[in-house]
Amino acid sequence: MDQYRVFGNPIKQSRSPIIHQSFAQQTQQQLNYQSEYVALDLFEQTIITFMQSGAKGANITAPFKEQAMALCDQLTERAQLAGAVNTLTFVDGEILGDNTDGEGLVQDLLNHKILLKNSRILLLGAGGAAKGVILPLLAQAPQKIIIANRTVSKAEQLIKKFNNNKLTAAGFDDLGEEKFDLIINATSASLTGKIPPISTALVANTDCYDMVYGKELSPFLAWAKINGATKVIDGLGMLVEQAAESFRIWRNVFPVTAQVLNRLRQED
Ligand code: ATR
Repeated sequence: MDQYRVFGNPIKQSRSPIIHQSFAQQTQQQLNYQSEYVALDLFEQTIITFMQSGAKGANITAPFKEQAMALCDQLTERAQLAGAVNTLTFVDGEILGDNTDGEGLVQDLLNHKILLKNSRILLLGAGGAAKGVILPLLAQAPQKIIIANRTVSKAEQLIKKFNNNKLTAAGFDDLGEEKFDLIINATSASLTGKIPPISTALVANTDCYDMVYGKELSPFLAWAKINGATKVIDGLGMLVEQAAESFRIWRNVFPVTAQVLNRLRQED
């Protein structure tokens, strides 16, 4: 049976095995998908050993996405620009690297009927999570994307790589009262119970998205809801959609994501 795995550290929390096994069942694909914990200094040899065992592909999660990129023989443009890889495909002894996170976000936004064409998007954060979604968001032809970060120089450096006049870098203080259609939180602030310091006026009547997910609304989404955000959406749908895009790359079939997402929500 074709073998796939997700590698990370930590890995116990990973929902990827459940998601991929559900996709496989639904599309009648014969495959086995497990998770594996990797010691921090053993990433490269773990992947090579897995590939040499005849496996077909792997997902890579924190903190190995950059190291995974360095292992690849070929990269998609979106992986190159993201500077990180979450999907490996093993073909004839070569490693093909892709990054499906941004496509996952875009699909989830579209599932929530959020119009991206001509929209004004505020992306909070300029770390790995933000970097991975910029190219797929640009592909939806938004009017503009402002990337605001605590450390402004990081946002400035990031947009240089893309060389696209729809992108602007800013600090949180520079944002003023400008209106956006969509605010995406790609900072890791939620993980420490914090909220990016932006004005409440920005979230009123605006759709707000947080890439993290959990039983409760994230601090950012809870705050946005209280302050009049239109829709507040967490990143669980993005997780399922990025998995669906990996599944499509490997198996060349599109799984239906809604039922898997519902199942995960019920388990939460
Ligand atoms: P990830 O891969 O999750 O993006 P990262 O690359 O370490 O992780 O990036 C974390 C992002 O969250 C950065 O944009 C960081 O801002 P700085 O570049 O200024 O460090 C942002 N961040 C983390 N904690 C934050 C907080 N409390 N308030 C605002 N931004 C925060």
